[in-house]
Amino acid sequence: MLGILARTMVKTGVVKPSRLVRPVSAARIAGRYLSHQGGLPPLPVPPLQQTCERYLSALEPIVEETELEHTRQVVAEFARPGGVGERLQTGLERRVRKTENWLSDWWLQTAYLDYRMPVVVHSSPGVVLPRLEFSDRQGQMRYAAKLIAGVLDFKTMIDNETLPVEYLGGQPLCMNQYYQILSSCRIPGTKRDSVVNYALGKRPPTHITVVHNYQFFILDVYNSDGSPLTVDQIYIQLEKIWSSSLQTNKEPVGILTSQHRNTWAKAYNNLIKDKTNKESVRAIQKSIFTVCLDAPMPRASDEMYRSRAAVQMLHGGGSRWNSGNRWFDKTLQFIIGEDGSCGLIYEHAPAEGPPIVSIIDHVVEYTKKPDEVRTPMVPLPMPQKLRFNITPEVKSDIEEAKQNMNIMVHDLDVKVNVFSHFGKNVPKAHKMSPDAFIQIALQLAYYRTYQKCCATYESASLRMFRLGRTETIRSASIASAKFVKAMDDPSKQSTEKVALMEKAVKAHRAYTDMAIRGQAIDRHLLGLKLQAIEDLASLPQIFMDTSYAVALHYNLSTSQVPAKTDCVMCFGPVVPDGYGVCYNPMEGHINFAVSAFNSCEDTNAGNMAQSLEKALLDIRSLLEHTPKAKL
Ligand code: COA
Repeated sequence: MLGILARTMVKTGVVKPSRLVRPVSAARIAGRYLSHQGGLPPLPVPPLQQTCERYLSALEPIVEETELEHTRQVVAEFARPGGVGERLQTGLERRVRKTENWLSDWWLQTAYLDYRMPVVVHSSPGVVLPRLEFSDRQGQMRYAAKLIAGVLDFKTMIDNETLPVEYLGGQPLCMNQYYQILSSCRIPGTKRDSVVNYALGKRPPTHITVVHNYQFFILDVYNSDGSPLTVDQIYIQLEKIWSSSLQTNKEPVGILTSQHRNTWAKAYNNLIKDKTNKESVRAIQKSIFTVCLDAPMPRASDEMYRSRAAVQMLHGGGSRWNSGNRWFDKTLQFIIGEDGSCGLIYEHAPAEGPPIVSIIDHVVEYTKKPDEVRTPMVPLPMPQKLRFNITPEVKSDIEEAKQNMNIMVHDLDVKVNVFSHFGKNVPKAHKMSPDAFIQIALQLAYYRTYQKCCATYESASLRMFRLGRTETIRSASIASAKFVKAMDDPSKQSTEKVALMEKAVKAHRAYTDMAIRGQAIDRHLLGLKLQAIEDLASLPQIFMDTSYAVALHYNLSTSQVPAKTDCVMCFGPVVPDGYGVCYNPMEGHINFAVSAFNSCEDTNAGNMAQSLEKALLDIRSLLEHTPKAKL
């Protein structure tokens, strides 16, 4: 029997009070998850007229008046009594009665599994952690061992159903996503992908996969008595992996997962024709998560470090660097570089950012625990290296994937900034929602750059409802447009600008409340459209209208992902001429990441990041130097 004879002693320092998430019970509480889920309300279908009216208001700041006039008629026809809208609405209401969540399956399919672009850059978000204080292999292994132990500690709460329930606006949230993150993987399909979750199977996995120099290993992380390996045990196993993967000339099979989904699906079928390859792929898919031990990336100044780390997390830096040191279909991949870079990338289909970041928060706290020395230990077997037979066809698929990856790498422009002048504190002092404040600043930054407003997406959580995912907050509103137009207008008084800013912030916060309560427009419109595809011979005019296309062309795709850790999430733009903006507002500063494509002449991540900083500062200055007045 494997096990440890442990003599435990604390090695270092003063123990600070821990911010680790504590389980609600030391022992397993079977059935707690389901009983919690059962108590959550189902996602409602908003009233048809309400959505139609709100849709027209949302179009006002982003669509020309002549176009809008046409759309008003199209919407009126759609929503007329006895019309097609009502028929589709009845279909949706029927769907509510037949499903746990009328939207969740549809959303998973349309937003993720049907989407054919590569998951890299186009879908999978990355998280950048502060640079770690090591720059060698021992430091890398030691940190990786602690991180793995920290994730396993979190996993115990998931397995035991003792994870504390989260709340938003005083309401308990759906915890389902936590059960989808570990032991799961996306599988490419020629028309549509799928996601498998091995945690729900009869024999849940007990291994993780570790990849170093493009070579994958199975690392069993549980002792035969079911206890997780200790940090020291994991460290020794990682050392073994490192030493037996020193060759750097291996084929980067993992880079295949970065391809366009149809291309990857074909290459996948080709790869797994070979039995050994199939078993290796299956071991990766089934693993609890993956740890990528990265080679050092080109050095960056302290100022540029976070931006450089962001691209390392998002795509690995290209085929010369760490892009082959990944399995991008894997739901959760932690990345630890020999140079102290650290973060993760996750495949978006099973979950949103907040549960991922809450694991990060736990793990980061866990890694701060003082080192324990445990001796002696019973030796563990060598972790198994996963073999791949590289046929000429597979080799040619890998070469093609490398080329495409390098094109993507050159195209992505990411700027991560720490806005250090203030954080949530300043908006709160002005009695404004910090999230709304940042969103309005972003509207101002965009307007100043392009002299127009654009369709803007901010994700709002629908987790108040069973199996809820997200809704769109449309940050470009009539009120925000009035403010951004007035802000630099010399004919306007400061008092008027302040009043317009206050109105814009209130409108944003009101939209947020509407969205998290399931009363916003975007998921409803999507539902009506998908219902039409199921029920009707042709798509109603409202979905073929130019305004609808404009409304869905998100030049600004944004998200707040708050964390206790000083980290930031990042993701790519969702349209060729757009920006991806993600931020973590802390109390005294804001970490934000802005991305754009180099192939678009009109966008520039660095300029937009600068413009956002200026907008935040200008708004603060306006608020601080103007006495309040009512319009
Ligand atoms: N005056 C003073 N303080 C205020 C205020 C006001 N008028 N309005 C809000 N605040 C406070 C809040 O009480 C809160 O306090 P806390 O820091 O103590 O928690 C804080 O300011 C933040 O509130 P706000 O900025 O309004 O945002 P929020 O926390 O409600 O978040 C969303 C808004 C949209 C981000 C959130 O509802 C949500 O849906 N999050 C999930 C997004 C998601 O899934 N992203 C991932 C996509 S991958």
